[in-house]
Amino acid sequence: MKIHNLRLRQFRNLNNVSLKFHSGLNVIVGDNGQGKTNLVESLVFLSSGRSFRVADDSLLIHTAKEFASIDADLDNSTQLKVVISDKGKYMQINQNTVKKLSDFMGQCNVVLFSPDDLNFISDTPRRRRHDIDLELGKMSNQYIGLLSSYNKLLTERNAHLKSNSVDYDYLEILTDQLIKSEEPIICIREKFSREIIPYISEIYQKLTGTEALVSLEYKSPVSCDGDISSKLLQRMRDSLQRDIETRMTNVGIHRDDFIFKVDGSPVLHVASQGQRRMLMIAYKLALVELIHKQSKTYPILCLDDLFSELDSGRRKSVVEMLPDAMQVFITTTDLSFIITDRDHYVFEVESGQVRQKLGGSV
Ligand SMILES: Nc1ncnc2c1ncn2[C@@H]1O[C@H](COP(=O)(O)OP(=O)(O)OP(=O)(O)O)[C@@H](O)[C@H]1O
Ligand SMILES: [Mg+2]
Repeated sequence: MKIHNLRLRQFRNLNNVSLKFHSGLNVIVGDNGQGKTNLVESLVFLSSGRSFRVADDSLLIHTAKEFASIDADLDNSTQLKVVISDKGKYMQINQNTVKKLSDFMGQCNVVLFSPDDLNFISDTPRRRRHDIDLELGKMSNQYIGLLSSYNKLLTERNAHLKSNSVDYDYLEILTDQLIKSEEPIICIREKFSREIIPYISEIYQKLTGTEALVSLEYKSPVSCDGDISSKLLQRMRDSLQRDIETRMTNVGIHRDDFIFKVDGSPVLHVASQGQRRMLMIAYKLALVELIHKQSKTYPILCLDDLFSELDSGRRKSVVEMLPDAMQVFITTTDLSFIITDRDHYVFEVESGQVRQKLGGSV
């Protein structure tokens, strides 16, 4: 999957930008505050239909303008368009308006590494679930549907638990339905963590020059084997009294967590800042390999502001590890950070203007 052309109008400080990208490596260079991350944000928006920085879409519109738009031509001849205005956003695939965000998501799968990913390990379980759900949602439309029906049922069950008179028959119906929608989610999340581990370990070992074994432990109410429904039902029954006392659902995939471990110990307790960074890079590179394995095509990878924090040896190894067949966008404040003999394009960003610099290799 690749983006051939991108046109932005009034997207943040990128007032009017029209770019043709390299099918391999694209380097976006510029001083602080010029618009590099804004450019990456527009690519991520094409993938997930939302910004990774703000919840309020209207912040993406250039101040004092009425709308922002993103147009892109993909390598499979698909055209994507998003228009954001104060009335909301509308999305088009090949000039056909798409009503559901889930139908738009994943048309062009963009995997992002942003500086905020370094907080993934120390942040809350909710954040980890959110990030992994987003990746799983881009990989499967069905997953988005499952999650959304689970969340609706959960809201309904919690509302009922908060009501003044709890109807036990109704609660049982809701519990049964909740369990049905929960079961496949547990199995998808478990499969994801199981399948990504070998990739993370291999990449982490290459990046750090160690033999460390990395794992991503999935913590859920029950495991995806045997009679999952009965096991879940038992857990729910055990928790019923507590649910009634606390007036909320205490057991379920809305409490799941994902824990990174290195050689069996939680990363949060043992790893240095630099090791965590390596781990998150390994995770993102593993994610692209997993997506490639499942969909037979590489996603687009955006590495925002990664290189300033790495030593020169690590910068070189990260670039060398990027598969040639994958389209990559790297932002940097300093071109000398990107050491590669691969053919690539360089785009210079200054005050919201983007110019392609002539010359390929640095
Ligand atoms: N809605 C908006 N309208 C106009 N300008 C905006 C809007 N939102 C953000 N900006 C401007 O975009 C700039 C920040 O862009 P961006 O975050 O892409 O910088 P950057 O090049 O990635 O910098 P850094 O190297 O510090 O990460 C700021 O100057 C900010 O004022
Ligand atoms: Mg930035």
